[in-house]
Amino acid sequence: MNGKTLRNSLRGVKRSLSKIWNRIYLPDLSRNYMDSGIPEKQRKYVDDELRLMYDGKTPSHFIALQKAFEPIASSRSEKNGASVRLLDAGCASGYYNEVIAHLVDIDIEYHGTDFNPSMLRMAREKYPGLNFSRMDLRQLAWRDGDFDVVLSGAVIEHIKEWKRAVGEIARVSKEWVVMHRALVCLKGATFTRSERHYDVDVYRTYIREKDLLDEFGSHGFEYISKFAVYDKGHDSDIDIFTYLFRRKR
Ligand SMILES: C[S@@+](CC[C@H](N)C(=O)[O-])C[C@H]1O[C@@H](n2cnc3c(N)ncnc32)[C@H](O)[C@@H]1O
Repeated sequence: MNGKTLRNSLRGVKRSLSKIWNRIYLPDLSRNYMDSGIPEKQRKYVDDELRLMYDGKTPSHFIALQKAFEPIASSRSEKNGASVRLLDAGCASGYYNEVIAHLVDIDIEYHGTDFNPSMLRMAREKYPGLNFSRMDLRQLAWRDGDFDVVLSGAVIEHIKEWKRAVGEIARVSKEWVVMHRALVCLKGATFTRSERHYDVDVYRTYIREKDLLDEFGSHGFEYISKFAVYDKGHDSDIDIFTYLFRRKR
């Protein structure tokens, strides 16, 4: 057994043990992402990534986002380029508005929503001209089909009732959904465990890819394509992709 195979086997054993443990004991972590210390810590990474983008060394996950938006942008240009109402669901400090403006040829009317008040305070300071509102993805106050596009990046993995969030995302989107940086398992079953992010214990759900596609399918969305986010090789069951869905016509 070589070093890489051994490392993968140990990772598999660790994951199985943590699945068993979390089935026995998983505390309520649903409010932990509201921690007021998270925004500063997260924005440090974001600022580095934005700097790389402006220097022409665009991070791979921004490129995945750009690719996912290409079909949306071309469909808009067929519709005479009318501006696109976009909801960034779980927007954090709202930085995807900058990424889209820099990398995608599309005119967007940006709305960001998040449930962490400190995140929204930072978002409003950074982007005073944009719209931000405080909502929980499990229950959005928007009406059905209020947005042309709903973008959600690395959020539903932190919501134990992720299917409720998918239902809400699908409900408020008229046409497109971009599930950016979605954490999936390709073979194993969906499972949720506790992980430490930004010094806080939060839920992390590894959604079976088929479950994710089926869930959007059950809300009237068809899977269009997926884009690799990181070059992780093919020996892992766990991966991260950006998925594009479109409402069935
Ligand atoms: C890992 S961060 C991702 C932020 C950003 N979308 C990105 O891709 O960098 C997760 C974000 O989801 C938010 N969030 C987590 N659970 C939420 C919920 N139930 N409703 C709304 N926002 C939530 C957090 O406050 C945080 O800003």
